[in-house]
Amino acid sequence: MKNLRLTGERLITGAGALNALSELTFTRALIITGGKSMFRNGTIHRAETLLSPRGAVEVCHGIPANPTCADVEAGLAVMRRFAPDLVIAIGGGSSIDAAKAMLLFYEWPALNFDNVFQSTLPQKRTKTTFVAVPSTSGTASEVTHVTVITFPEQQNKLAIKTEALRPDIAILDGELCMSLPAHIAAETGMDALTHAIECFTNRSKETFTNALAIGAITGILQWLLQSVEQATPESRQKMHEFSCMAGMAFSNAGLGMVHGISHAFSAHYNTAHGLANAVILPYVLEYNRQDAWVAAELDHLSHIVGGDIIGQVRALAAQVGIPACLRDCGIAEADFERDEAALIAGSMLGSTAVNPIPMTPETIAPIVRAAYYGN
Ligand SMILES: [Fe+2]
Repeated sequence: MKNLRLTGERLITGAGALNALSELTFTRALIITGGKSMFRNGTIHRAETLLSPRGAVEVCHGIPANPTCADVEAGLAVMRRFAPDLVIAIGGGSSIDAAKAMLLFYEWPALNFDNVFQSTLPQKRTKTTFVAVPSTSGTASEVTHVTVITFPEQQNKLAIKTEALRPDIAILDGELCMSLPAHIAAETGMDALTHAIECFTNRSKETFTNALAIGAITGILQWLLQSVEQATPESRQKMHEFSCMAGMAFSNAGLGMVHGISHAFSAHYNTAHGLANAVILPYVLEYNRQDAWVAAELDHLSHIVGGDIIGQVRALAAQVGIPACLRDCGIAEADFERDEAALIAGSMLGSTAVNPIPMTPETIAPIVRAAYYGN
């Protein structure tokens, strides 16, 4: 038996969907966002204008890429002082993930980063309504029950998972993505493709997640290049929706070792998550293909997409400007050689546990090396 959960209460999608903020009921609304882009393109001002007739509004900004425990704690202090009953995360996956962790510690003050991984986590928020408005099309954090936080001292990224983290309302407004630079559209789009393919090759998938994964894979193969090269409103909205579908799929079925390995590299070198995944994905698929079940699934997928799926992934990655190996992503060879043992140990964490082929440090080591050197 499977207990599936695809979204929170509502998913509002389409150009102009941000206007739904004007229908929310609240007393104190806290907007959590990243750096400058959402201010520059007018989204934060628009959100404040939509919300302010209904209650007090404050903006907490400055969430960086790959948010750390310290970033979460800084935002948590703002949240505790302002005491919102509505939290709206606007921005990339980092802003939404940071907001999720803040909300968890805000509603349950006994929880913190020292005990969260040993605690039985609560399932349902009651103090706040949580709205997620993504401005990139990759993590699908707007529909998932997961937050990924960077722990600089351990040089790793770890996921916290519980239903209490899933946003109540997800707003998919492709207009927010129109100012997204091409390379970010490429990297986040390849992250979404990785989610869909890792889910498709995860043994826990069933009929619903399988269909969502196939829909996302075919959609991303069709629309990502246009989204990167031309940034048309239609392609940006489509990528937003296919990324979200991939999130619905993987948050129920799980991922695989692409994410395990990429988190290790991102934690060491701050490599962008989508970029690392995009580079690692074909190496992992080639390895996992030795398993008969994976091979049959990939053959089926190749039939659906009209050509070898690994070849199509490599071709799309090259077209959108993804390097062929991690050495070409600005990670110096001396650093890699120095850190290799730690990278292998880090790669064994997280989603590697649900890779379709069970991994050991000995079997994952050549894949880490291949993804770095490109052979
Ligand atoms: Fe991802």
